[in-house]
Amino acid sequence: MKLSLFSGRTKQVMIDQLTIDRINEAAHIEEVVSDYVTLRRRGVNMIGLCPFHNEKTPSFTVSPAKGIFKCFGCGEGGNSVHFIMKQEQISYYEALKHLARKYHIEVRERELSAEELAVRNDRESMLLVNDFAQKYFANILHHHVDGKSIGLGYFRERGFRDDIIEKFQLGYCLDEKDAFSKSAIKAGYNKDFLVKTGLTIEGDNNYLADRFRGRVMFPVHSLSGKVLAFGGRVLKKDEKTAKYVNSPESEIYHKSNELYGIFFAKQAIVRHDRCFLVEGYTDVISMHQSGIENVVASSGTSLTPGQIRLIHRFTENVTVIYDGDPAGIKASIRGIDLLLEEGLNIRVLLLPDGDDPDSFSRKHNASDFIDFVNRHSVDFMQFKTNLLIDDAGNDPIKRAALIQDIVQSISMIPNQIIRAEYVKECSSLLNVDEKLLYHQINKIKQSELEAKITKKPTEDKSENSSQPATQVNREPTGVFKFENEERSLIRVLIKYGSDVLFYTQTEGDNSEKPITASDYILGELQIDGLTFQGKLHEQIRQEIILNSASENFNAERYFLNHPDIEVSKFTADLILEKYTLSKIHSKFHKLETEVDRLAELAPRFIFEYKLAIIMDKRKQKLMEMKTAAEARNDKMMQQIMREIEAIDNFKNKLSKELDRVLNLL
Ligand code: CTP
Ligand code: MN
Repeated sequence: MKLSLFSGRTKQVMIDQLTIDRINEAAHIEEVVSDYVTLRRRGVNMIGLCPFHNEKTPSFTVSPAKGIFKCFGCGEGGNSVHFIMKQEQISYYEALKHLARKYHIEVRERELSAEELAVRNDRESMLLVNDFAQKYFANILHHHVDGKSIGLGYFRERGFRDDIIEKFQLGYCLDEKDAFSKSAIKAGYNKDFLVKTGLTIEGDNNYLADRFRGRVMFPVHSLSGKVLAFGGRVLKKDEKTAKYVNSPESEIYHKSNELYGIFFAKQAIVRHDRCFLVEGYTDVISMHQSGIENVVASSGTSLTPGQIRLIHRFTENVTVIYDGDPAGIKASIRGIDLLLEEGLNIRVLLLPDGDDPDSFSRKHNASDFIDFVNRHSVDFMQFKTNLLIDDAGNDPIKRAALIQDIVQSISMIPNQIIRAEYVKECSSLLNVDEKLLYHQINKIKQSELEAKITKKPTEDKSENSSQPATQVNREPTGVFKFENEERSLIRVLIKYGSDVLFYTQTEGDNSEKPITASDYILGELQIDGLTFQGKLHEQIRQEIILNSASENFNAERYFLNHPDIEVSKFTADLILEKYTLSKIHSKFHKLETEVDRLAELAPRFIFEYKLAIIMDKRKQKLMEMKTAAEARNDKMMQQIMREIEAIDNFKNKLSKELDRVLNLL
């Protein structure tokens, strides 16, 4: 689900809800898509060639009635705003503005709370300061005597072309105590923000100094091209000072969530459906210069999940290019499992000894470079095997460790089909039985599962909330218990919430009261005091409760066009999911659709959800029982036995209740 990720979190709350509603009303999906894709009518839908992947026969479908698109080839889907985001590679906020322009809708931004305003003002002020600094440093580089001779001289000597120096907005910071800080303050910038961005270092007694004195400057851009930070490189080969000084972490710069070069690379990444991952600033720049633009750098640190998700928004294919020295190899290995876990396809290219992407791309033109990549890059399994097999030889213990290492990586791959392919490859490469590999993988999966189950739900929550605010808060699938059960209930709530399930008769009164699917499900949850564990699920549940009183509340439209992109994308996926689900159901009842069976499905979903919860409880009790038995604590054992009995009774009651409700139909 690539589109749910975006970095401009603070922006989504800024456009006022009324404006968003007007945009969503005006931006008819077929019209928006038609700007990019030729559509033909087919029945109630329209079809065309998918703009997001290569295809010869159309599998890209637009539903004007529902206001959504879906490609049955590559799986992309969503509403008009999602389409523009994907097509133009822009944020949710930018996509809304884009559509507002197209339909001549005035964008009103909603008033922010005092707290939001303070944060936003801080962020904006910091971005403004950085923008000023970038222009200042570039200006010094191109027009100041020292800048030209020292800074520009350095870049030219390295072989950077002028157009590339300009494109990456490189600069130079004079080797003077506070030349920059003074200019910034004179130009009206507030000292506080100079300090907050780290451009200026503040000491006692109003002492101010430039952080990047005497360094060439590499601005670090956000996805949308704003300068978030700087890296400054020394020119002298001085052992004492660090080669690079970087801007400190701040409200606008979380190093672990940014990738150097992403702004300049994003379109090329989509076009080539591949992203090269290198180590540093100069690698990115030199590769651009040689004509390879789909490249980003992790800036010397090991990859983080945030960075990987950023890549995943644009492609599934990553080729890691590192130096062939031991440090480079180590760095490549570290990243691999994380990339696999995010569902990316990874290849690794180790350059000939002594070369890094920077030096290598200066010696080869783009097509030779790509040719080299295609011939010499290997998938992660070959990479690991090559690396370890010489060392292991025929030593059975080392071989076992090698296999374990590779199996560990394979078990990280979320997609079962791809996993199976790697099992096959591993089996033939290392000459081990596939069955044995599956056995090992299952063992790893099982112990992961157990670790998850024994973790208390409260621990899960604190894990989520401890993420920095700017980090994408997507829940990877399967991180919380009962996800599938919750999702089924949410689907019914959103798609059929206002459909009447049955009528009840109040005693002493002859009138019949309609019970909607939403009444039923929310009521059932409330009886047992249940809340959803999925953060999005729970948010949706609460918003439905808040809105359920209003007469013409249409949950599907409401959530599909929700101001929170995570919610709207989630809803789009949910609505589009019906194709697979109805197939499953039709195994049993060929001619009935989901909605026909709603009155039966809703109680079943509730039953399955509650059942899953109590069976989980029962499992916990059994584990406690084991501990108690080991400790020979009879009293404890009896107590637990009674609790298990109570759980079993409750389970019976649930089954009876399900029968009763189904008999009402
Ligand atoms: N880096 C850093 N701080 C350091 C060292 C390295 O942030 N003290 C990051 C920079 O992003 C750098 C990358 O790690 O670009 C790779 O480091 P290195 O290979 O040492 O630097 P290069 O950029 O390749 O510089 P050069 O080719 O000029 O030596
Ligand atoms: Mn280098």
